[in-house]
Amino acid sequence: MAFESKIKTIEWVDNKSRMIDQTILPYEFKTVDISTAEEMYYAIKDMIVRGAPAIGIAGAHGVSLAAIELSKTETDKNIFLKKLQEKADYLKSSRPTAVNLMWAIDKQMKLALEIDGSIETVTKALIENGIKLENEDIEINKKMGDYGAEVVPKGATILTHCNAGALATVGYGTALGVIRSAYAKDPTIKVFADETRPRQQGARLTTWELTQDGIPTTLITDGMCSYFMSKGMIQMVVVGADRIAANGDTANKIGTYTVAIAAKYHNVPFYIAAPLSTIDISIKSGKEIPIEERSHEEVTHINGDWVCAKDVNIINPGFDVTPHELITGIITEKGILRPNFEESIAKAFMED
Ligand code: MRU
Repeated sequence: MAFESKIKTIEWVDNKSRMIDQTILPYEFKTVDISTAEEMYYAIKDMIVRGAPAIGIAGAHGVSLAAIELSKTETDKNIFLKKLQEKADYLKSSRPTAVNLMWAIDKQMKLALEIDGSIETVTKALIENGIKLENEDIEINKKMGDYGAEVVPKGATILTHCNAGALATVGYGTALGVIRSAYAKDPTIKVFADETRPRQQGARLTTWELTQDGIPTTLITDGMCSYFMSKGMIQMVVVGADRIAANGDTANKIGTYTVAIAAKYHNVPFYIAAPLSTIDISIKSGKEIPIEERSHEEVTHINGDWVCAKDVNIINPGFDVTPHELITGIITEKGILRPNFEESIAKAFMED
């Protein structure tokens, strides 16, 4: 059963990509219209849109926008396709870790190269495909939600890290999609949301979207999870993913690895919820996942104010990799993958 979320994070409207500006939530709700590939590059890089599946759709829309721009000046199809590939590569370079971005852009480029028609025909097909991927994202999340809800213990308190919700996808969410579907079946479940420093996606975004749906949510700071697990107050962890290697090692927001270690120690099941488009079967293990290093200001400042000494050293990786040994299951649109992940992932791709 699906619990509807009214949030539509990104959508194609009047030949533009309309997105919720996530840099100003929860203080202000505003949408912005992105009309060029260059604007899309910065919307992704500056995290107006963020979350692996959402930036995938943003990348797909970015290719459609590039095609619209190029179709106004180019008449030679080969030159059009060459320039489109350059724009696609540029869009891919906006953020390195979430593989959904590369996946969606590659899908668009494959289509562009396959179509035997005019520049206008290619541009129209890219726009239509971007909208199709957008709609499929919500359907996939609902399927994951249904599978995931089956493993949520009755009356559980579920811990989540970062925001893997409607705001990180087109709508409904991956980890928060599981929580939405579980809540529809059992309104006694509760959520603990990690604050998620440095950018506070848990505090700013997860609490914003869950409380709007009336799902009981408690905000905790990142260092508190072991304490609550030791008190028996958390029965399950579910988080999203930015890239999953062929052996199940999973990159997600920095701090996820710490939560997974705490969960293992306290025998709390630790689940990843992610679509198959987040699995990168071209890499064997998490060691090969590129980890984004972000601006030092994200650590030194909160809401524009300094929070530390001015001459301290800073290091700011945006993601960490949870080794597959710490993961109980990976909830996908094809069902829940279990260890041995190398085998269950390979099988899911064979069926796909
Ligand atoms: O840096 P962000 O906010 O884009 O990081 C997002 C996450 O780490 C999410 O957990 C992940 O993308 C999964 S979203 C369904």
